[in-house]
Amino acid sequence: MKSAHLNYNPLFPSVGDLKKRAKKRIPKFAFDYLEGGCNDEINLGKNEKDFHQITLMPQYLKKYIGVDTSIKLFDHVYDAPFGVSPIGLQGLMWPNAPEILAKAAVAHNIPFILSTVSTSSIEHIADVTDGRFWFQLYHPAKSAMCDDILDRLEAVNCPVLVVLVDVPSFGFRYREIKVGLSMPPKMNINNIFQAALRPGWSFETLRNGIPEFATLKKYMDKKLDMSQLGQFMNNSFDKRVDADRIAAIRDRWKGKLVLKGIVSSHDIEKAIALGADGVIVSNHGGRQIDACESSIRSLINLSENYSEKMTMMLDGGIRSGPDVARALACGAKFTFMGRPFMYGVSALGKSGGIHTISMFKAQFKQAMEQLCCATPNELPGTLISTKS
Ligand SMILES: Cc1cc2nc3c(=O)[nH]c(=O)nc-3n(C[C@H](O)[C@H](O)[C@H](O)COP(=O)(O)O)c2cc1C
Repeated sequence: MKSAHLNYNPLFPSVGDLKKRAKKRIPKFAFDYLEGGCNDEINLGKNEKDFHQITLMPQYLKKYIGVDTSIKLFDHVYDAPFGVSPIGLQGLMWPNAPEILAKAAVAHNIPFILSTVSTSSIEHIADVTDGRFWFQLYHPAKSAMCDDILDRLEAVNCPVLVVLVDVPSFGFRYREIKVGLSMPPKMNINNIFQAALRPGWSFETLRNGIPEFATLKKYMDKKLDMSQLGQFMNNSFDKRVDADRIAAIRDRWKGKLVLKGIVSSHDIEKAIALGADGVIVSNHGGRQIDACESSIRSLINLSENYSEKMTMMLDGGIRSGPDVARALACGAKFTFMGRPFMYGVSALGKSGGIHTISMFKAQFKQAMEQLCCATPNELPGTLISTKS
């Protein structure tokens, strides 16, 4: 498929602009679900702030040979070194958000990762992307369900399976607790009132139907009501995954296998021993443990020993093209973003996917041009410091 043109709406040239508009367009409970981190949101803040400490050095007198932002990852050449992180319940923020983002990602030739608990199914996303999507797996407790999900992924030729390892417990998120958002989402008086203040969102949501866990629907009892859904999730998924469980998936899955949520040398050693093809260094966007380091700091600590031994990708706190450049300069082979793409769709609806990817492409290309790097592989050579 041909790359889309760099066409972003000039009224929203930054993530900050998209976030402001998203906040005005969607109900508070949906915005809080998207925005929030766990506990006092220290880790959430650090994820962004630690990027600001990383400085890069341009070399203006290098011979200019043009800029190529493309990068080869797992046998595919992507247009740019960033993709869309998996986000659960995307349809709560904006109807059809997974479809909007998946289509935009394919048009722009960047990867889109579908969450197990997304509001679009494996088959639907495979259909709109021609099988060009990655899938993130929460580990099912029952092997029959795990096998069935893997069969479904194989049937649509999904090339990359991303196994999430960083949710041994549900994050303690004050914002979600306060607004009454839980698994499953509750529609109490307060939330109904918030929805009424956002008529555009309410109209679109009513038109498209209440979001559901589309991939998991087939495993649920037809009579399951909303209050039993949380119990279904608890009974159906092992929150904790260990090396044995991953080994069983590695044996079974013939495509590329990526572990998401790796932040320690202990876990990266295991990932190497298990034969994983890559890891996403990630702390789940600051939503799981407030006491941990920022994801860019984890990457910096790991990259010295492991960047040659493992394909290390990164997500968490990336908010601009220069941040993508910073991540690559610090040793990431590739990056992902979660909230920024959802701000884009919440702010601009159908055109939000194309807009946000175009914006990041333009920002990243400008950063490469300014740093006088011909390819992303030259970015590590521009690193001055990782501390202010
Ligand atoms: C609202 C929300 C829902 C998320 N749901 C999932 C999920 O279902 N599966 C998953 O692997 N990660 C999930 N994540 C984590 C993201 O994949 C990603 O690691 C994180 O958003 C990166 O941080 P960033 O938002 O600062 O880019 C979620 C994050 C957010 C904000």
